[in-house]
Amino acid sequence: MDKLLILGGSPLKGEVTISGAKNAALPIMASTLLAQGIHTLKRIPKLKDVSTMAELIKKMGGIVEFNELCKINTLKINKFEAPYELVKTMRASILVLGPLVARFGKAKVSLPGGCAIGARPVNLHINGLEKMGAKISLQEGYIIAKASRLIGAKIYFDIPTVTGTENLMMAATLAKGTTIIENAAKEPEIVDLANYLILMGAKIQGAGTSIIKIEGVDDLNPPQEYEIIPDRIETGTFMAIAGACRGDIILKGCRIDHVDAIILKMKDAGISFKETKNGIRVIGPKRLQAVDIKTMPYPGFPTDMQAQFMAMMTVANGTSVIKETIFENRFMHVAELRRMGADITVEGNTATVRGVKKLKGAPVMATDLRASASLVIAGLIAEEETLIDRIYHLDRGYEELDKKLIQLGARIKRIK
Ligand code: EPU
Repeated sequence: MDKLLILGGSPLKGEVTISGAKNAALPIMASTLLAQGIHTLKRIPKLKDVSTMAELIKKMGGIVEFNELCKINTLKINKFEAPYELVKTMRASILVLGPLVARFGKAKVSLPGGCAIGARPVNLHINGLEKMGAKISLQEGYIIAKASRLIGAKIYFDIPTVTGTENLMMAATLAKGTTIIENAAKEPEIVDLANYLILMGAKIQGAGTSIIKIEGVDDLNPPQEYEIIPDRIETGTFMAIAGACRGDIILKGCRIDHVDAIILKMKDAGISFKETKNGIRVIGPKRLQAVDIKTMPYPGFPTDMQAQFMAMMTVANGTSVIKETIFENRFMHVAELRRMGADITVEGNTATVRGVKKLKGAPVMATDLRASASLVIAGLIAEEETLIDRIYHLDRGYEELDKKLIQLGARIKRIK
């Protein structure tokens, strides 16, 4: 298992190009199952989760090739199953459920188990498909879904679920009649997926708002080449890195309109931003100011940036109160940050971070993707060496993070 060795304290300067968004790439890859033919996708990030989605599509009879572009051939899809071995390594595998039932009338998808950040049920995905007429049963840990043809329905989400919205939006594209999803999630990745579906011939209105209307069509066709949006969480992570390490970093190719909440909170913490021709320059202050955050569905402050923001706050001037409202167990990084000298207490869904002058390197363990990113930030701030174990979590969601950091002057080494 690879580890990362970081020698902290270097000021980070230079340019970094933001990769394609993992959480847009995964649903868009799953959506290729809706239309028979060859799909050509641009800016698909090279990540473990993306290879897992490719594996899933291949297991179903698809052909997936990665070069400059990602080509997915869905001409011979003949198996409609997502096995436990793959689903257990990536929960986003559930995204094949909607497309499979919609196009082939059947699907067998392993039920994802709990995960490090919370229980994360998929009841809202299942209830929505049932409303659309699918017959669903649970057998030996698998969701078995059947429908001769899905029918349009009115669906209300108790919680605006991101992948739930994506799954049902995909399913509804081929249903008979109109589907309305109320209290839908509004994340930019949903808009990106909707844009791809629309290019395939789907009729979707309102993606990016809380009410999405989908009029079902009889079939969809692969469009011309499509470019995935840049990753807003990678963008925010590099902003946190610049902010925490007195950095001066230009982020190229990012979408500033997708990171509004992050920028506003970071400005409060003393980080400066200057828009450039194709991105944004981020300059960290001598010492950060403590700022409170509360995670919320988009356009609120993203839960996927909570751990990285907390790492910054460990060395800020003052006390920061961090409230996690999306997942019930997303503070696994706290214990590791404490091992590096951070002063953090947790009560329920609230962490109180009292800023210290400095962190000290220590051996630590990555527990999930964004927690790993927070440990990288802490390692970059800390005096002396930090050794991060289990960085396969990082490789699931950040494209060549260590290489990008080395380009910026970080002293970081991957130990095989
Ligand atoms: N929820 C339910 N029932 C459901 C679905 C969700 O109770 O059927 C609850 C969840 O337990 C959670 C809340 O609703 O408390 C919101 O979860 P959501 O379904 O929106 O999360 P997700 O779709 O499983 C996506 C991202 C996550 C990101 C969350 C929240 C993808 C592939 N994953 O997950 O990304 O944290 O939305 O923004 O898009 C990451 O990239 O590190 C990551 C975990």
